[in-house]
Amino acid sequence: MPAISATAPGKIILLGEHAVVYGFPAIAIPVHQVFARAIITPNPTAPPGKIQIKAPAINLQADLSELSSNHPIKFAILRTQETLQVAELPSFRLQISSSIPVASGLGSGAAVSVAIIRALANFLGFALSNDQVSALTYQIEQIHHGTPSGIDNTVVTYAQPVYFQRDQPVDIIACRVPLTFVIADSGHPSPTLETVSKIRQAWMSNPVYYESIFDQIGNLVIQARAAVENGDIAQLGSLMDDNQSLLEELQVSTPELDGLIAAARAAGAFGAKLSGGGCGGNMIALSSSQETGRLASALSDAGATLTITTFLPAGDNNHD
Ligand code: PMV
Repeated sequence: MPAISATAPGKIILLGEHAVVYGFPAIAIPVHQVFARAIITPNPTAPPGKIQIKAPAINLQADLSELSSNHPIKFAILRTQETLQVAELPSFRLQISSSIPVASGLGSGAAVSVAIIRALANFLGFALSNDQVSALTYQIEQIHHGTPSGIDNTVVTYAQPVYFQRDQPVDIIACRVPLTFVIADSGHPSPTLETVSKIRQAWMSNPVYYESIFDQIGNLVIQARAAVENGDIAQLGSLMDDNQSLLEELQVSTPELDGLIAAARAAGAFGAKLSGGGCGGNMIALSSSQETGRLASALSDAGATLTITTFLPAGDNNHD
């Protein structure tokens, strides 16, 4: 058996985070500049079922048997085995690497899961459909997030811009014109599990108020889809700004994110907002393709610890 490698991209949420957990739509796009990779190498001299895992980014070097049963990597391996109805796994080494910043709204957990599931299925001689990969990844996201909406596993699996709504079929968006974004990391990791539970507590204490915010966010998302499909960049930027105001009302922005967003707008971005769970993590700015260098420097000057420039081509955005 040859070594098998699979990769999966990072992602950003263009509009609609948090409200999407409550059934409202959101838009997410893949970020191909950062990705997770899983490499599986056969280890025929080891006894069957001996699986050695190395993930230097999280300081993990262990045998599968040493990991607790709800460890996301173990869960990904065993659930894939179960789905494929493979009675016994051959022995192998699994090496996981990722350039996606952890706990910062860029989908690192989902990307690692997708890469492991695809590499393992291929290694065992199977091809899983995108729907199967996404559904398995959703189960692993539940360990990371508690009550994930399903948007991360969907966009990372399909690796295309998606208009996502819970319990609806996958809906891929075609952009009328290319879109350019500069992503900036505030340098403060923020686990999604915590921000999602913070919003849940707040929603439980005042459902009417929070549902009206989610509803307004959902309306912005519907308009943003039209702006993407019509190629109206100025309108899309302004909708991102409106979404940021509502995220501020949800109290998931931070002074660092606010500073980066203000710097992006001052440097000429069409619009800017936090992306993902918030309370840290990343923000995104919609840029003209000629201004990305200037915008990235302005964001670094304003304290960004990392900037990533990403592009969405016009058309069906198919990266297969
Ligand atoms: O993983 P993050 O931080 O991009 O968060 C995903 C977006 C949320 O709406 C906050 C959670 C979810 O499951 O949709």
